[in-house]
Amino acid sequence: MLSHCLTVQTHSHDYPIIISHATNMAEQVAPYIAGKQVLIVTNDTVAPLYLQALQEGLAAQFAVFVCVLPDGEVYKTQDSINQIYDALMDNHCGRDVTLIALGGGVIGDMTGFAAASFMRGVNFIQIPTTVLAQVDSSVGGKTGINHPKGKNMIGAFWQPQMVLADMATLPTLPRRELSAGMAEVIKYALIMDVTFLEWLESNMAAMMQLDLDLIAEAVKRCCEFKAQVVAEDEREAGRRALLNFGHTFGHVIETHEGYGSWLHGEAVAAGMVQAAKLSQRLGWLTAAEVSRIEQLLLLAELPIVPPAIDTEIALGLMSHDKKVKLGQIRLILLKSLGDAVITDEFAPELLSAVLADSMLAAQ
Ligand code: NAD
Ligand code: GLY
Repeated sequence: MLSHCLTVQTHSHDYPIIISHATNMAEQVAPYIAGKQVLIVTNDTVAPLYLQALQEGLAAQFAVFVCVLPDGEVYKTQDSINQIYDALMDNHCGRDVTLIALGGGVIGDMTGFAAASFMRGVNFIQIPTTVLAQVDSSVGGKTGINHPKGKNMIGAFWQPQMVLADMATLPTLPRRELSAGMAEVIKYALIMDVTFLEWLESNMAAMMQLDLDLIAEAVKRCCEFKAQVVAEDEREAGRRALLNFGHTFGHVIETHEGYGSWLHGEAVAAGMVQAAKLSQRLGWLTAAEVSRIEQLLLLAELPIVPPAIDTEIALGLMSHDKKVKLGQIRLILLKSLGDAVITDEFAPELLSAVLADSMLAAQ
């Protein structure tokens, strides 16, 4: 199996994304550890699967400490961050400690945020073990935790020293999580590249059967898109917001249903359909194109209808979105397949109508 290496260019430093298969993780990450201390942050699902090899592999060269957090989006909280700080303090870690996030996006976002804030900023490395984290959350430096009133509301931009996406971690991933990752993969195609959309239509069935070569190719393409966007707009002053396609609708689902009930990728999938339907109401997409999006999401075994949420409640939740400007909800919509815009130029009634239609479809 081929391995791929890409570079992400950021203001603070450039760093590699290594996409490989059945690697010795410790050997791959060791060159990117500057000091002598390492804290591996993981959770109680991933730890029994992949921690020992990494820990033992690093132990010859570094003092290795471990922080195992409870698994789940509901634990993406300040309390978990405090547990990471406790592990750092209890083990007398200094400024040259490197944190390693071993897990999915929840672990990656929290480890990155702890790294951004401990002693005003220490190094960290991402070893993403879900498709979602490999194609999206581990790349680009968005880190953080949830607030009870909104997803990812507290956080920092803090770039890792490197990202290691090892395909060999994917066979243990629950199928529902594989699907959730595919939602973000489909997102890239819809916002950036209609050719990639065609590629996904041809290869999604095989990827859902865990063809790791094809998944590695998809991870590579997504990371190329993301690296390009991050290099242009690291702090999301403009274009990076396009990566939030489907997310404003999706965050409403996640917040309303309670964190962890709908997986992030599932909420994004249903949210992308809602965004596509608003794009259709604006005359930018045809019904056939919306249906094409739905078919691909279904092929990835993803939901295309959100749960029943009252329209006013949904609008209230949307008003907390980070893209809101001067009280105006701004959304990522599709001008055409493969071409997204951020806009507030839609009649509020059209958004309400899409939300009301979703409510009806869910009942
Ligand atoms: P997750 O981290 O909760 O992982 C999903 C589940 O899979 C968990 O139960 C986890 O323990 C388990 N798991 C992980 N790797 C496994 C493996 N190899 N084998 C078996 N089980 C494994 O969820 P996720 O989908 O990876 O990430 C979602 C999070 O990422 C959300 O909090 C979301 O807000 C965040 N996110 C952040 C960004 C960003 O740019 N920072 C982008 C997208 C999403
Ligand atoms: N996941 C969106 C971003 O990284 O900007």
